[in-house]
Amino acid sequence: MPALQNDTLIRALLRQPTPYTPVWLMRQAGRYLPEYRATRQRAGSFLALAKSPTLATEVTLQPLERYRLDAAILFSDILTVPDAMGLGLYFADGEGPRFHNPVRDAASVAKLFVPDPSRELRYVIDAVSEIRRALNNRVPLIGFSGSPYTLACYMVEGGGSEDFRTIKTMLYSEPALLHRILEINARAVIDYLNAQIEAGAQAVMIFDTWGGNLSHAAFREFSLAYTRRVLAGLKREHDGVRIPSIVFTKGGGLWLSDIAASGSDAVGLDWTMSLGDARKLVKDQVALQGNMDPMALFASTDAVRTEVARVLADFGAGPGHVFNLGHGISQFTPPDSVAALVDAVHALSPAYHDGDSVPR
Ligand code: CP3
Repeated sequence: MPALQNDTLIRALLRQPTPYTPVWLMRQAGRYLPEYRATRQRAGSFLALAKSPTLATEVTLQPLERYRLDAAILFSDILTVPDAMGLGLYFADGEGPRFHNPVRDAASVAKLFVPDPSRELRYVIDAVSEIRRALNNRVPLIGFSGSPYTLACYMVEGGGSEDFRTIKTMLYSEPALLHRILEINARAVIDYLNAQIEAGAQAVMIFDTWGGNLSHAAFREFSLAYTRRVLAGLKREHDGVRIPSIVFTKGGGLWLSDIAASGSDAVGLDWTMSLGDARKLVKDQVALQGNMDPMALFASTDAVRTEVARVLADFGAGPGHVFNLGHGISQFTPPDSVAALVDAVHALSPAYHDGDSVPR
């Protein structure tokens, strides 16, 4: 297996020395790019795009053609897994994702099953292989999944939600039912991520987008316990190469110590927490990924540069930082702001890595 030309992401996730801080952006392939909108239009819909390995490969590579990003992320969606379980994913215009068959009672829970990635999710696994071929070892490919709890939010609510009333009603009144869903989801996510790793994903990320909406106690019982189970089931190596893992709980800053102890190599942070404080808390347990406010990209390119400098300084000197936004990039972001961000990370970060090439 030929070596990666740019392995800064993998090294940073493993807290190894790098000459600069690697950068990629959550939702880097998406609607803020006119070329994405053009491919999506050709595909007919977001789902048609995500279900075509060739088109998914095309849009995965689009941001890398424009910007000197240090990683590619599989173009897909976390909701492919519940879709494969037979919930019937669709996107109503302007309403975001929805399911035809939400899971709200014992009868619908009994029908859930762990999808076979080589069957129901074949199109994702094929996309991973095709993207790896197209990348030709330029940068690593990140695979991903939703966390068991975040997937359950969509499965029980039947789509997005303002207050998560349906799933929280289940959590407080029928906790055993929710635990059954989470157990199936955890097994599904393990199989799905391991299949992505076998097909060529070189790092994996678990998106716990909604874990932050839980109470302190419920977060541990219904989100973190299952994320931990997923991490314990992941392949740590493929073809003799380490596959680092990243866990991102939006709104999880208060629980960072517990998240950092859950078994991942890196923890993603949203913009509400100081990277410097986070680093003091996690010490050398995990690498940190983040955490610029995505809305800073609506300011001038000078302001973007200033904010990049502040985030880099907040983490400080030494290895173990992957630059990213604190959440997905907005579809309204000016593409030139992204260029300013990526260039600023590459220009300003070497100052924080002086001596990193010296083994410690
Ligand atoms: O980061 C990337 O570039 C990879 C692609 C990616 C998408 N979704 C593509 C997408 C990733 C990693 C995701 C993850 C995802 N999907 C999450 C977790 C991360 C997060 O943002 O918190 C969640 C919660 C979803 C569910 C989802 N998918 C929602 C809520 C929506 C609609 C809202 C929106 O932003 O449009 C989607 C659709 C979706 N997934 C789009 C893209 C590019 C937009 C679809 C379109 O083209 O219209």
